[in-house]
Formats: sequence, structure tokens, C-alpha cells
Amino acid sequence: MLLYNTCFKGVVPPFFRRSQNGLNMKVIDSQNYLEVLERLRKPWQEKYYAMYSSVLGGVVLDPLLMQVPADDHLVHRGDGVFDTFKCVGRAAYNLDAHLRRLMRSAEAISLAWPGGMDEIRALTLETLAKADRAECSGRVMVARGPGSFGVSPYESPAPALYILAYAAGVPFMEKHPEGARVRRSHVPVKPARFATVKNCNYLPNVMMKREAVDWGVDFVVGFDADGLMAEGATENFGIVTRSGELLFPRMETVLDGTTMLRVMKLAETLVEAGALEKIAFRDITEADACAASEMLVVGTTLNVVSVREFEGVPVGDGRPGPVGRALDKLLVCDIATNDALRTAY
Ligand SMILES: Cc1ncc(COP(=O)(O)O)c(C=O)c1O
Repeated sequence: MLLYNTCFKGVVPPFFRRSQNGLNMKVIDSQNYLEVLERLRKPWQEKYYAMYSSVLGGVVLDPLLMQVPADDHLVHRGDGVFDTFKCVGRAAYNLDAHLRRLMRSAEAISLAWPGGMDEIRALTLETLAKADRAECSGRVMVARGPGSFGVSPYESPAPALYILAYAAGVPFMEKHPEGARVRRSHVPVKPARFATVKNCNYLPNVMMKREAVDWGVDFVVGFDADGLMAEGATENFGIVTRSGELLFPRMETVLDGTTMLRVMKLAETLVEAGALEKIAFRDITEADACAASEMLVVGTTLNVVSVREFEGVPVGDGRPGPVGRALDKLLVCDIATNDALRTAY
């Protein structure tokens, strides 16, 4: 009462103001929460198959229950790391490469999951088994964890782990056999320290995707302040030069894409067969990109995409080129049959 008298004297008490505004805000409590949730079902949630949450200590199969606490620093500060992989024929493809990158990303932001990579792998495979789909995408997020709404990572007593299984996207060339259209992004390229860590702070990537949608193209690609090719919103870019070199940017400034690394390995067979002169990671200028005989976009969901048009100008003869097509075939085969890289669940 003393506080009211000294600070709010003459001010309308808050509960009066609310009713005067006619908001009538409903109070949701543990008694009516589930009933409220039930009314929130949306058709797109049918694509969400399972979510493990270390906060809950188990897996949920009902999309309505796939929730992250608002005070997890993942939510309000983007303080966490993640990785996404795909499952084909009831096996996760290249899972360890994704989990190794996840662990490296976590270490880069001083985040450690106490059970280490082995426990994350076991929980991931168990979540996939519970989702019970032969084909799906998997996403693992290591978060700073609940603890406060502050920015200090030290306010979260323990990290949290969230693992999702959801419907897989269709590889790009299956939907668009004619190839992709690409423009140069206006979004500044991330500094190397952040670009090389798969952290949950993806605002620049979101803005790049928005550019692509708004400009009516399939992808945009960033070039850094020195005019060197970087990467796309969630994909790596490379070129095939007219002299037959397959080039991807040096990995100091882009994410070390698992698809890009695998494609470079598979491309060795094309070098042996004489279809390529050589393969290398090196600086690619915009002039190199404009003069290329092929431009490629690679990523976990996409596989290998051939670009048919860059900045409104045809790449090569404006159709998917032989190297892109061959690499896409090799990768699709690798995903389906390479038992050394397939982890069954
Ligand atoms: C920024 C960025 N670059 C490249 C990639 C491609 O990586 P991967 O081939 O491992 O999917 C991704 C994947 O999401 C990404 O987010």
C-alpha cells in the first residue's frame, strides 16, 4: 500500500486499465493448458514426427507437445548450435560427419553436452526409431538451456538437447530438372568466426532466403568484401571452370558443408575418368563465377543442384552441365548404398 501511495498515486491501477481496454486477456494455467493446445493443431504439424527434449527427459510424438521453454537462451539469444541430416531407407546418412561438426560448433561457443557425442548419437537414433519413418530429416540442437532472460550464458545452469525428426524435403533437381536460377545476395557475408560455426543465430541466412523468394529466384549467393564467393543461405556454392576444374571456396569463410566435402571426394572418380582436370578449394571471384561452364549448389536436402542462370545470364549453355549431373547421380547412389556412411535405426 505504501508503494502504491508513493509511486502510483493518481494513476489508474493496472487491472482497471486492462478491462477499460477491453482486452479481457485469458489466464491459461495448468488446468486448461492442454485444452487450449488442442485447439491449436495446424495441418503443417503433420510433418513433425518426433522430438526428444532433455528438459522433458523423453521423446514426444504429438507435435503440440514439441515445445522449447521461453527462457532457454536458444530462444531469446540464439545461443546454441545445431545440425541437420537426412535419413533414407531407414538409415541416417553421414551422421557422424554431422555430429562431429555439431560438437566442433558447440566447442566454438564454449558449450559442452555432458554425455558427449556418443550419447547424442544414441539419443538421435532412438528418436528416429520412435519417429518410425524410413525417410525423414533429423535436426539436433544443443542449446545453452533454460535459466534466465539475460544474455549471460553463465545464467543457464545446464545445456539442453533437442532432437527433431520431421518430413524430408525433396531434392532440388527432382522438382526442377531444368536447374536453378541464382542471384547475388545483398546481405553482408558473416565474419569467418560465425560463418564456420553452425550456430542458431541465422538471421543473415533468413534474410538471404527472403531475398531469393522476393526476387523470384531459387537461391542467392554471398560475395565477401573482397569480392570472393562465400555461400548461400543454407548451402555451399562451387563452380566448374572452362578448363575443367571443380572449385569450392576455401573453408575459412564458409561452413564446411558435409555435402560439399562428400561431393569433392566423389569427384575424385571424375578426375580419374578424365571428366575433370582437377578439384580444389580456392578463392572464387565474381568474374570466375560469371565465366564458369557450370555452377553448383550443394546441401543436405538439395544434393547437387546445377545452376542454369546467374544474375539473369545463362551459365554454360543454360542447361544442367555434365559434371553437376554426374555428381548428383554419384551422391544419390552414395546416400542409398554406401553402408560405411549409413547408420540404421
Ligand atoms: C550456411 C550453410 N552453408 C552450407 C550448408 C550445407 O551444409 P550441409 O551440406 O552439411 O548440409 C548449410 C546447411 O544447412 C548451411 O546452413
